[in-house]
Amino acid sequence: MRSHYCGEVTTKLLDKDVLIVGWVHRRRDHGGVIFLDLRDREGLVQVVFAPENKTAFATAETVRNEYVLQIKGKVRHRPAGTVNKDLATGEIEIDAQEITILNRAEPTPFPIDEFHDIGEETRLRYRYLDLRRPEMLNKMKLRAHITRYLRRYLDDNGFLDIETPFLTRATPEGARDYLVPSRTKPGSFYALPQSPQQFKQLLMMAGMDKYYQIVRCFRDEDLRADRQPEFTQLDIETSFLNEIEIQNIMEEMMRGMFADVLKVELPKPFPRMTYQEAMTRFGSDKPDLRIPLELIDIADLLKDVEFKVFAGPANNPEGRIAALRVPGGADISRKDIDDYTKFVGIYGAKGLAYIKLNADGLNSPILKFIPEDVTQQILKRTGAVVGDIIFFGADKASIVNEALGALRIKIGQDRNLVEKGWRPLWVVDFPMFEKTKDGYLTACHHPFTAPKINAISDLNIDPINILARAYDLALNGSEIGGGSIRINSSELQMAVFKALGISEEEANEKFGHLLRALKFGCPPHGGIAFGIDRLAMLMTDSTSIRDVIAFPKTQTATCPLTDAPSTVDAAQLIELGIRVNVPVKKDTEEKTNI
Ligand code: AMO
Ligand code: AMP
Repeated sequence: MRSHYCGEVTTKLLDKDVLIVGWVHRRRDHGGVIFLDLRDREGLVQVVFAPENKTAFATAETVRNEYVLQIKGKVRHRPAGTVNKDLATGEIEIDAQEITILNRAEPTPFPIDEFHDIGEETRLRYRYLDLRRPEMLNKMKLRAHITRYLRRYLDDNGFLDIETPFLTRATPEGARDYLVPSRTKPGSFYALPQSPQQFKQLLMMAGMDKYYQIVRCFRDEDLRADRQPEFTQLDIETSFLNEIEIQNIMEEMMRGMFADVLKVELPKPFPRMTYQEAMTRFGSDKPDLRIPLELIDIADLLKDVEFKVFAGPANNPEGRIAALRVPGGADISRKDIDDYTKFVGIYGAKGLAYIKLNADGLNSPILKFIPEDVTQQILKRTGAVVGDIIFFGADKASIVNEALGALRIKIGQDRNLVEKGWRPLWVVDFPMFEKTKDGYLTACHHPFTAPKINAISDLNIDPINILARAYDLALNGSEIGGGSIRINSSELQMAVFKALGISEEEANEKFGHLLRALKFGCPPHGGIAFGIDRLAMLMTDSTSIRDVIAFPKTQTATCPLTDAPSTVDAAQLIELGIRVNVPVKKDTEEKTNI
């Protein structure tokens, strides 16, 4: 149907006949001549209809935006003064000889070129139109470039692309499961995998040695700008490699991918930082190294002050007091400080103390509570000079880290301190366990991660301080990947389940297949998974993960295009042996009770 894509028709084709197809981007009638911009995946080209060519001209007069056309014509130079240097096809135009309308289009709900103030709901409802916009097309192309490179790299380096089931049992990754009812075994459910974690380990036990899969994962969790209920991982597992060897291969792959897709050189090697150092200096396990602000511990200076806000956390082993110095920040207004105080409140901070170093002295609501010599020591330790401001967070360490970690990023952005470029960082030596609010232990990564211990009995001594052989890859403040060396002994795996409060009976019921497999010659193994959507989001400079997913879900996990999730027929429920007992929103507020 065509000889070239619209976007490919350049001066190379001067005086040649071309046959193009595409959508009408714009039609302009100019003094008896009709100009059509025809658009396809590769770009726009200008087509000109002269009145002398009566039949074609008459048809061109009837076309509207988004009609689908086929056009035959000859490529010629644009007249002097009408060249558009911003367009690959901007030096030429097509002198149309024939036009065929392949399909008509109703007026679209929003213009296809830019979207002024179109709500995201509308964009998602008409996603196929939204995706016609060049900006979105380019994002999809870049995403395909990323996965193309990654596949090629892994294929060329001995990794096998192997599929794993979607209808399976739960694999814990810290979220809720999406469940699928079984028709053949009424009352039983499959879980959609939160990741292929157990299967990729079983593949190592099967001797596959190096596996990868670009795979959908399903997690029913609270959604944020960088989270989707179904998202795509590049999932990897290897046998007989240690963490450094795995990280080296992954680094090489990432460097190659960034060079190929964005023509950007990433550092070699990627820097490494322990979890502890990342939390201490940045209040985050995925620090954005482009922002030159750091947290500084000062609790030791404040143990004896009378000011309760500080004395409490200073004397609490789980407390933290950190200072965040903002160079030149003394000009931050009272109102902005109030806004920042509200901002840290989101993370549970009860206030935001500060000291401004003005030319005429210090200005602060807390000076009266702190002895002069302590204040001087704080200034010295933070290196503050006239013109700066220091913010303080005092609370449980987790609250201070979250609040000041987020404030560091916000102030970095507000004051244009974010440096340009790409700052990857391996974060290593994660804790094996963390405590839930109710005081239970959960796995920091997942329960299949190997702990850094000498003997199984060490698990009982001081579990919260045990480190894991886990590593994350952070990039510009996002966690783009995470992995670990895995447990490869059934005894240790059972002991870790026990430490997590999972009884032997429950472990056998839920993970018996894995515990059994570990007994039949399991190789040392480990791997990692990268979030492809997050990577694509960063690499296309998008503000939302939804912009790099063709058909994403909204913040409430719905799809405005298909109206999923939806109610189902009573007959389907009966077949599945399911009784629904929730109010359903219909014209009348009725209860389904089948
Ligand atoms: P993890 O849970 O860290 O590890 O996930 C790996 C990466 O997947 C991305 N990611 C997400 N992206 C979009 N929406 C989500 N809801 C979402 N959740 C996670 C992140 C993250 O770094 N099985 C382990 C990997 C392993 O140990 O090999 C796992 O799934 O970029
Ligand atoms: P208050 O005595 O509660 O009025 O607080 C005095 C100053 O300390 C105010 O600037 C508060 O914003 C700040 N503040 C209160 N609680 C905290 C906290 N947990 N961390 C840091 N600053 C705080």
